[in-house]
Amino acid sequence: RMARKFFVGGNWKCNGRTEEVKKIVATLNEGLVPASDIVDVVVSPPFVFLPLVKSLLRSDFHVAAQNCWVKKGGAYTGEVSAEMLVDLEIPWVILGHSERRLLLNESKEFVGDKVAYALSKGLKVIACVGETLEQRESGSTLDIVAAQTKAIADRVSDWTNIVIAYEPVWAIGTGKVATPVQAQEVHAELREWLKVNTSPEVAATVRIIYGGSVNGANSKELAAQPDVDGFLVGGASLKPEFIDIINSAT
Ligand code: G3P
Repeated sequence: RMARKFFVGGNWKCNGRTEEVKKIVATLNEGLVPASDIVDVVVSPPFVFLPLVKSLLRSDFHVAAQNCWVKKGGAYTGEVSAEMLVDLEIPWVILGHSERRLLLNESKEFVGDKVAYALSKGLKVIACVGETLEQRESGSTLDIVAAQTKAIADRVSDWTNIVIAYEPVWAIGTGKVATPVQAQEVHAELREWLKVNTSPEVAATVRIIYGGSVNGANSKELAAQPDVDGFLVGGASLKPEFIDIINSAT
């Protein structure tokens, strides 16, 4: 992992109220963590709290939106454009989360288009991929993850500003974390796919982070895997143990 800086994202999903948000940020701001040349830390509150969180958050942590629109804004009621995020100096956006793919029917092509558009506007992207339990049990994990990644690779040539989050759907919010061996296996296969289908350099440098029931008790062992470059954390990112997860970087 030498060349790849550890990355920890906190995906707050559709959680939080103003008072709680302020408390979470205050806890993060007090946390003792490695310096920003060792670990990138990005937290992703719902859109409406982005300006508040950005204004209160320590300067070595950054914010991410959880989604953005696929092209230039306009008559798209309910959507938030990449241009707006750029205007608010929100540096990161999460795209292709399985909750959006599955609950809101976002296709892999649509996610690929969103990734390409967000990058073109100067955003950095956490692009999520991952298989369902049914897909894993039928032996198609790599096919699914590769197809989701290919839809991005078909539309993007510069991977500098992309972090890939491997989030097996069966591990999300279930308490059923992938074992370090399971995570490492998919991360290594995905890196090999990138080597063949993008370039050896992209494969060697792109960070592949793991998401799905990561907590303060299991992060250290996962982080010890050579192809696990960090985490995308849901539930535990709302709790003080997020600091422990960040500390699994070292
Ligand atoms: O994006 C992070 C996520 O989907 C994992 O959620 O609650 O299992 O950590 P959780």
